[in-house]
Amino acid sequence: MWGGRFTAEPDAIMEAINASIGFDWHLARQDIDGSRAHAAMLAHQGILNDKDAEAIREGLLTIWSEIKGGTFTFSTALEDIHMNVEARLREIIGAPAGRLHTARSRNDQVATDFKLWVRDQLDAAVQGLEALIRALLSQAEAGAEWIMPGFTHLQTAQPVTWGHHMMAYVEMLGRDLSRMRDARVRMNECPLGAAALAGTSFPIDRGMTARALGFDRPAANSIDAVSDRDFALEFLATASICAVHLSRFAEELVIWSSAQFRFITLSDRFSTGSSIMPQKKNPDAAELIRAKIGRILGANVALMTVMKGLPLAYSKDLQEDKEQVFDAADSLILGLAAMTAMVGDMTANRATLQAAAASGFSTATDLADWLVRTLDMPFRKAHHITGVLVKLAEDKECDLPDLSLAEMQGIHSAITAEVFDVLGVRNSVASRTSYGGTAPSRVRAQIARWKEMMGQ
Ligand code: ARG
Repeated sequence: MWGGRFTAEPDAIMEAINASIGFDWHLARQDIDGSRAHAAMLAHQGILNDKDAEAIREGLLTIWSEIKGGTFTFSTALEDIHMNVEARLREIIGAPAGRLHTARSRNDQVATDFKLWVRDQLDAAVQGLEALIRALLSQAEAGAEWIMPGFTHLQTAQPVTWGHHMMAYVEMLGRDLSRMRDARVRMNECPLGAAALAGTSFPIDRGMTARALGFDRPAANSIDAVSDRDFALEFLATASICAVHLSRFAEELVIWSSAQFRFITLSDRFSTGSSIMPQKKNPDAAELIRAKIGRILGANVALMTVMKGLPLAYSKDLQEDKEQVFDAADSLILGLAAMTAMVGDMTANRATLQAAAASGFSTATDLADWLVRTLDMPFRKAHHITGVLVKLAEDKECDLPDLSLAEMQGIHSAITAEVFDVLGVRNSVASRTSYGGTAPSRVRAQIARWKEMMGQ
């Protein structure tokens, strides 16, 4: 492969450690697109004659149909996707194939291929996120007024609305969406034409190849262009944060679908049974989504570690940039699709949610607020008196609204019957009208704002 400089074949172990075709075949389409753009530019600049350019173009199209059709034979001896494609081109069109690599190196070639591939994944992630946000908006809209317990420390805190809880995830995923879009804008510069690292003496037109491949402009520094993998790191970092969000939501679905909570019912389509326990219906899809972060964050750490301390420009270490990004992207896209389908299919058990919201003294804060508002009590004092009332209810094994007025007045004589108005969960959520609060009116406004942003 290396022409005149070499006399001996590589050792089998060298071939095994050196070859990347086992995974970089994923880049076949991008490699062919990049080569077509490069050949067209060489012809346009008079570096390649039209006849050779046409032969190269047709040969590349033939190779792509062979790869798509599964008839292409990938060879480990040919090391990587670039050499596999070029060798096949030589078989098909003969000597002109050797002109394709003019003014190009595998260093700018692989950076371009990989960038094109990551760009596609950013686009797929954006689509996946949009679909999930839409599914959450539907849930939020249906349940803008449904009442459920809000938790801190996974202990009942205050009543909230189902819609509000769904919209919390919309906000999180909305930030992921913005990070994905932002990363795409920043990465969209074309490395092709940087050649090995220093540029080339041929009169190439880097703007032309950049445009042909959908980039905004050529990368400005050839040394940086061949050694930069920020685009993959940013994708992985963004994917990791998104996977954290998916994992948190998945965990809630696992808890909520348990027999102890029964907040939701997951459809049979997204559950599995047990081979021994006939009664079981397990939330496997949610559990797997919960676990995907392991691979995705692992890929992020792995690539950061590969890049750290690499001197400029290209080193073969950079071949170790791809495999885990491929896996992380598959995991993220599949996780988003599975979550979207599960959210679309799940049923909230409204009665259970509301009953749970009313238990655990969830309106104690409303009671304290009432003491402040009606009796002009300092909040700290109101907090203390409410604590005493909660203790009383706990001793009597009842909830706050079950205490009699006389019992309440026994703790503080100025309490009146109006206090019972604030102890119900519906009044509680309706009263939280502060910006970003759980009141159905606020939640509806949030949903409307998001629907508009999503073009719905
Ligand atoms: N397979 C290589 C990679 O993935 C292609 C670039 C090889 N460049 C080189 N100078 N050996 O990085």
